[in-house]
Amino acid sequence: MEKKEITMLAIESSCDETAAAVVVNGRDVRSNIIASQIDVHKLYGGVVPEIASRKHIEKINQVIEEALTESGKTLEDMDAICVTYGPGLVGALLVGVGTAKAISYAAGKPLIGVHHIEGHISANYIANPDLEPPFLCLVASGGHSHLVAVRDYGKYEILGKTRDDAAGEAFDKVARAIGLGYPGGPKIDRLAKEGNPDAIEFPRASIEGAPYDFSFSGVKSAVLNYINGCKMKNISYSEADIAASFQCAVVDVLVSHTMLAAENLGIEKIAIAGGVACNSGLREGMEQVCSEKGYRLFLPPLVLCTDNAAMIGAAGYYEYMNGVRHGLDLNAVPGLKLGE
Ligand code: KG4
Ligand code: ZN
Repeated sequence: MEKKEITMLAIESSCDETAAAVVVNGRDVRSNIIASQIDVHKLYGGVVPEIASRKHIEKINQVIEEALTESGKTLEDMDAICVTYGPGLVGALLVGVGTAKAISYAAGKPLIGVHHIEGHISANYIANPDLEPPFLCLVASGGHSHLVAVRDYGKYEILGKTRDDAAGEAFDKVARAIGLGYPGGPKIDRLAKEGNPDAIEFPRASIEGAPYDFSFSGVKSAVLNYINGCKMKNISYSEADIAASFQCAVVDVLVSHTMLAAENLGIEKIAIAGGVACNSGLREGMEQVCSEKGYRLFLPPLVLCTDNAAMIGAAGYYEYMNGVRHGLDLNAVPGLKLGE
């Protein structure tokens, strides 16, 4: 018997991307529409929550309509409506959640609230049709840095997380200090290619008793101190060397913590996710150690690393298959924990 197609309309609005997608059976992306607000927020040097909410409400219907049209499907064809309900900016999340609830009610389709980080992890299912749990996933984005053991579909064990700044946040703050503007990650990545990663020894933080946890505020402060020190002494400094050395310090920590967890847990499949997974230094660093150790590495394409709705449709499919359904009382949960 032919397997039934389960089709999801997925919506994502947790930060500064208004996104909608149509995904079949969790892995087959029929459309993936993303309206980025970066051009507005970069005027302010970072995401302004109030502006993000207003832009989402302007764009969301158009983005959903485009996602349906491009997929060649109608609301009638959907088996469920998936939406990110946390974590994220509350006003931004509410736009997606409110819209998904209205569509779910009007079209008579089940509603599934999806955890944003579960979405990032699930981007790997789209990119790699043969990937199945268990595997280890490093999730590094603007808001989160988590090391997660994916035990099964929808079953996560958080091994470590950041104690302070997320990796992407550190990239953004250092970029601002060098005068590169927002979002900093891609700009540091580009500038780092022209610099020497060994020029400046920035700290690699590890936390006693919590070997999988991260801390990036120290390396961020070290960069700021370095720049201030040079300015005070009237010494010139190379922005490219700072970018390369900072990126190298962050990548070293991300890679080494992931490898330590892989070894200790005996997991030989490694995936990465989140906006920082676009970083060329991180991708190369992971490729190198994984090939040395004989681990299989899964790298999503860049468009699936940063925020998008296809990843929410992938995660929502597995939640749906696990029997998860949300009621019309679903609310945005800005501090939602993975596994709640
Ligand atoms: O996953 P994402 O789109 O949004 C959140 O859920 O936070 O991640 C955005 C973050 C930003 O901090 C951005 O600077 C960072 O990902 N990022 C990068 C790169 N591309 C995006 N960081 C380092 N290198 C990159 N190439
Ligand atoms: Zn994200």
